[in-house]
Amino acid sequence: MIGRSGDPEIGPATPSSIRAHPRKSAVDFSSEAQSINFRLLNYRFFLMVFDFDFEKRRMLGYKLIDRVNEYFSSLPERSVQLPSDQRTFSELGETLPEVGADALAVLEEACTELIEHGFHVPSANYFGLMNPTPTYMAVLAEMLVAALNPQLASLARSQLAARIERETVHWIGGRVGWDRPFDGTFTSGGNEANFSAMALALAHYFPEAVEDGLISTGKRPVLYTSTEAHHSLDKSAGLLGLGRTALRRIAVTANAQLDPAILETRILQDKTQRFAPFCVVATAGTTNSGTIDDLDILAEICQRHHLWLHVDGAYGAAAIFSNQHRKLVQGIERADSITLDPHKWLAMPFSSGLILTSRPETLEQAFAVDTPYMPRSSAATLLDNFKVSTQWSRRMNSLKVWLTLRVHGRQAYEELIHRQLELARSFAQWAQGSDDFELAVPQVLPIVNLRVKLPGAPEEQVQAANEAVVQEVTQDGQRWISTTFVNGRSVIRVMVISYLTEERHLEDLKKALMTAAKKR
Ligand SMILES: Cc1ncc(COP(=O)(O)O)c(C=O)c1O
Repeated sequence: MIGRSGDPEIGPATPSSIRAHPRKSAVDFSSEAQSINFRLLNYRFFLMVFDFDFEKRRMLGYKLIDRVNEYFSSLPERSVQLPSDQRTFSELGETLPEVGADALAVLEEACTELIEHGFHVPSANYFGLMNPTPTYMAVLAEMLVAALNPQLASLARSQLAARIERETVHWIGGRVGWDRPFDGTFTSGGNEANFSAMALALAHYFPEAVEDGLISTGKRPVLYTSTEAHHSLDKSAGLLGLGRTALRRIAVTANAQLDPAILETRILQDKTQRFAPFCVVATAGTTNSGTIDDLDILAEICQRHHLWLHVDGAYGAAAIFSNQHRKLVQGIERADSITLDPHKWLAMPFSSGLILTSRPETLEQAFAVDTPYMPRSSAATLLDNFKVSTQWSRRMNSLKVWLTLRVHGRQAYEELIHRQLELARSFAQWAQGSDDFELAVPQVLPIVNLRVKLPGAPEEQVQAANEAVVQEVTQDGQRWISTTFVNGRSVIRVMVISYLTEERHLEDLKKALMTAAKKR
């Protein structure tokens, strides 16, 4: 139980703690009473502020880093969560603390609770959604960013930080292979990056809408994506005033790729009905199955119809970091804009997203505003970040990527991408040859979709079987997989996302899957 008063770490303030924080007053206290008042005043002031002395900062920091270090050591064997009968999701029920408590005890309590009762996305046994084990350099970067708190809205207040951010954008954008100028900006993630891409495309084709709204265009802009594309696109279409129905969801092929023939028919149909097609959103790595749309064919359709091509590569665009596997996203260099989330395949902690564009002028067209109060730097040759982004105050989400690249280099990602693709390929082969399961969709990226093998059974029965298997496999908390739907069919979804995952973890998962399939 954490004490709330008389706390030895914080107060009541002793004369020495007051001495450690001398705050001189201009008032001359002549009487003893006045002197006591002065001390009380100082004492109250001391309680109001948040600073710790040098030793205490050091002690707390070391304690935390020890916990984090132990946690990292545990990740290769760590269960993802508690067994199902011990998981709790109720409110904590603490009242708002009026006074503080011992910092070390509170920190220890938070670490213990979060680690012992938490859900461990960074575990090697998390075969989950697109959330990785963060690199350790990224963890350190996050602390540095929080301590320095650079304000990346304007260059004048961030200077080196803003230049690191721009350098990181250019390192990543440089891997796309654009033969024309490009630019981009960090985002909070794929949702904001996709929203930004749509805003750029709108600003490009309907510049008047930025000031006067879509109504001023006298047109009904529409855009296209596959039925498998991420739902951040629906959100964005609604928020940009296009309306969610303006996002035409195009059916996919048997391989879960956007069907180009259906797309082109729909574009032509929309044109005859006086809609104004302006953008196609291709996906490089769908959330459900990791499918990559045929980017070259979609680029050709966009060229024919003068449409903006956005590639939502929140996950899969990271393949540009691999010389060997870059061909997976062949055609990405034909995009007008790309979403790439370092907090997915590049092993960054939340949050770190990126919008890149080969039409850099649109960033300013869509986002720039003038203010009298933002500090200016006369020497600046770059644009302030608030003029090229949906964000204003802005966290430095690039340092973790920059430091990781500086310390490990691109080749570390080349290796990561290759290893995870190999692990997934071997797992998919196992599923395909299994007596209990079948492969539901071809494996392209390190995501495997399988189904319980029930030849001739109705879809509801397969769905129930898939769910029962996942329930059984995840019940003890050791590992995590999920169910989803691909092209309307229920699948079990297994993703290799942690850089700590090895063959032995997948062997363990296979055993758990086979046992669960037999138990049904
Ligand atoms: C393909 C795709 N695009 C966009 C997003 C949204 O990204 P974020 O969660 O970083 O906002 C996701 C999330 O998983 C995704 O899978």
